[in-house]
This record gives sequence, structure tokens and C-alpha cells, in this order.
Amino acid sequence: MDRIEIRKNRSLHGEITVPGDKSISHRAVMFGSLASGRTKITGFLPGADCLSTISCFRKMGIEIEQQGSTVTVHGKGLHGLTCPADTLDTGNSGTTMRLISGILSGQKFTSRLSGDESICRRPMKRIITPLTMMHADIRSEKENGCAPLIIRPGELKSIHYNSPVASAQVKSCVLLAGMYADGITRVTEPVLSRNHTEIMLRYLGASVTSEGTTVSIEPEPALAGRALNVPGDISSAAYFIAAALVTPNSEILIRNVGINPTRDGILEVLKNMGADIRLLNISRDGEPTADLLVKTSSLHGTVVGGEVIPRLIDEIPMIAVLACFAEGTTVIRDAAELRVKESDRIAVMTENLRRMGADIEAAPDGMIIRGGSPLHGADVDSYADHRAAMSLAVAGTVCEGQLRIEGGNCTNISYPGFYRDLYSLSDGSV
Ligand code: S3P
Repeated sequence: MDRIEIRKNRSLHGEITVPGDKSISHRAVMFGSLASGRTKITGFLPGADCLSTISCFRKMGIEIEQQGSTVTVHGKGLHGLTCPADTLDTGNSGTTMRLISGILSGQKFTSRLSGDESICRRPMKRIITPLTMMHADIRSEKENGCAPLIIRPGELKSIHYNSPVASAQVKSCVLLAGMYADGITRVTEPVLSRNHTEIMLRYLGASVTSEGTTVSIEPEPALAGRALNVPGDISSAAYFIAAALVTPNSEILIRNVGINPTRDGILEVLKNMGADIRLLNISRDGEPTADLLVKTSSLHGTVVGGEVIPRLIDEIPMIAVLACFAEGTTVIRDAAELRVKESDRIAVMTENLRRMGADIEAAPDGMIIRGGSPLHGADVDSYADHRAAMSLAVAGTVCEGQLRIEGGNCTNISYPGFYRDLYSLSDGSV
């Protein structure tokens, strides 16, 4: 396994642009493939997860040119995919597996979906259930509710699905299958999850309406390829926001960050913790963006739970690290979903931060962190989870002593170049 050694950063100054949003990059390739004509994507995230999506659609006959963050998809329309010669490999990517399953359920060919060890442990029943309600023929090969998945042709019926989880992957999967159904498909979720699917499908010509936490889609949309510009990923920006907040005498500007209201929970929570973060140059054209000006701040503990959780679900490992530097106690609750991410993020963050000296306790649906115990270097393990690796790396740049992260290179999943960028703002690393 690869091991990364983290050095301490002194103060952070300057500007940075983080790579494109992962959720939006996946969708741009998928929906561009189902649209007629050319979709030119700029700001695409060339991380391993999004490259898995490109590779799946190439296997289904779509011509896709990719050069760094510029991607051109030559879409063939809603019914233009062709039968893949072998298994579609989604790698580590839950978004690829769950969204593609919705699309594949509406095809006239049989397909098999698989991926790495982590993805084959993650729950797929959450999509098998609604897709089966729509008369899709989808099953888990090992009958354990996990991948590999086999999807055979089916005549899809529209449904109104009341999702038990606030998950954009589940919502998107059902809406995508709904494009191939016999009527209007609706999804209601307990709390609104990220709405990039709705925004992009509408932009490409689909009839998608949202009312509260219910989204409806009309079948057989005529999607037309269009230029798509992907903003910087707020989930990637979170690592730099955090680093600047807890590194002494720091002030950084993070340019062009997506601040979609279904994703901006991290800004709300950090402000509650006393963070000095200012939003500049706000643009509300399509997916909203802003430049974020962040300064070193004294943080205090907070309670993170309820409606905000889906709006910051991927940032919770980073919040757990920041809570160690905050005064008082931070309680994270209502976040049992963390247990079924790329790793069990509650167990992984609790174990690793404890090794670094943190006063942290796991709960079934979150963590309790008592701030103020100084963190020190240690041997930690990412468990091949990119967000655990990046959160721990930030902790390593501010703690005393050296941090070694086993499996540290998995940052490539969502942020190739992360370690380079982590040091790029430091004015004298030791
Ligand atoms: C994503 C949705 C979230 C998130 C994941 C990306 C998406 O997952 O954690 O990183 O692109 O739709 P869930 O839908 O499982 O909450």
C-alpha cells in the first residue's frame, strides 16, 4: 500500500482553484451521452471516479474525448447506447454505479455492473427496490443486495417513490429510469438532497419540476447537447477552508467554488463555529458559484444534525477534524449514512483521530468530539477512502510531529494533485 508523509504547514497565503465538482462532472458525461449532439464540458474533474463514468459510456458506444479538464461527449440520444462487450467497471464510484443502474434499466440490452472491493460492499438495495417497483429487471448477482448487478431489459412503469433516505444517488437513479417509463415519475425524499441532476436535465431540455422535496420528470425527454461548465467542488474546497481556519496567520482565496444551496451546509456550520469566511463575486447563472475568502479563526464546538446533514454529508470527516481544534464539544448526529460511504467514515475517523490524540467518541449515527486535546503525529490509515485521507492530511499539516497516512494516494479518486495543492499555499513548510 502507498504511504504519504505529511509535513507541517506554516501560514497559508494566496489563491487556489480547486478541481471541478465531482457530482456535476459525472452527470455531465452521463447526460451528455444521452443527449443528441455535442456536449463540451469545461472544468471537468479528471479524478478516478469520473474517469470510471467516461469508461462505462465509451463501452456503450459513446465517443468521448478527454484532455485534462476538457471533455467532449458525442451524445447519441436517449436510445443511442449500445450493448457493452463486457462488465461495466464503476471502480470506487457510488455515483457511477447508482445513476447508471437507472439508465441501464431502460435499455434493450443486458448489462453487468461491478467495481472495486469497497463498491461491492456498499448497499445497492436502495436502488434495486425502487427500480424493481418500476418493473426493472435488476438483481444482485450474489443476492446480498450489493454489486455485481445484472440488469436485463424491462418495460418500465412510472411510480411515485417515497425514498426512505435523503440520497441524490437514489433520487437520480429513479429519475433517470423515469425517462424510459410510461408516465410521469416522482420521487419524494425525507430531506432535500443535492439537486444537480434536476438542474442539468432541465438545462438539456427535460421537463423536470420540483416542489418541496418532490421531483417529477416526464418520460422520453428530447435532450440536446450543450456546453457545460463545471464549477469548483465545494467538497474539495472544504479541505483548504479547514486548513486556513486552523493554520495560524492565514488568509486564502479559493476561486470559483460551487455554492449550490443543497451543498453549502459546510459554510453554514463553519460560520456557526466562528469561522471567518466571506463569499465574493457571487454568480447565480446556472449552478451558483463564489470566491471564498478564508482567514484563521478561533472555532468553538457546535451541534451538526437534522436537515443540514445531506447538504454537507461528504464534509463530515473534515468537520470532525476541525472539531478537535475547536473550544468545547461538537456533536454530529443524524449521519448514519456515513457508515455506508467509501468506508465506514464514523469508525475510520474515530479510530484515526484517536491515534492522533483526539478526544472523540463514535455514536451509531455520528461522533462526539471534545475539542482542545492537542493532536500529534501518528500512523493512520485511510482505509482507501479519499475523504478520510484528505481530512487526516489537513490535520497532519497543523499537528505536532509527523503524520503518516497508509493508503494516502486514494485522494486521486476525487482530487488528483491534492498533496501538491495542500503545500502550494504554505510560505515555508518545515
Ligand atoms: C452524490 C451523492 C451523495 C454523496 C456522493 C455524491 C451524488 O451520496 O455522498 O459523494 O453525486 O449524487 P448519497 O446519494 O449516497 O447521499
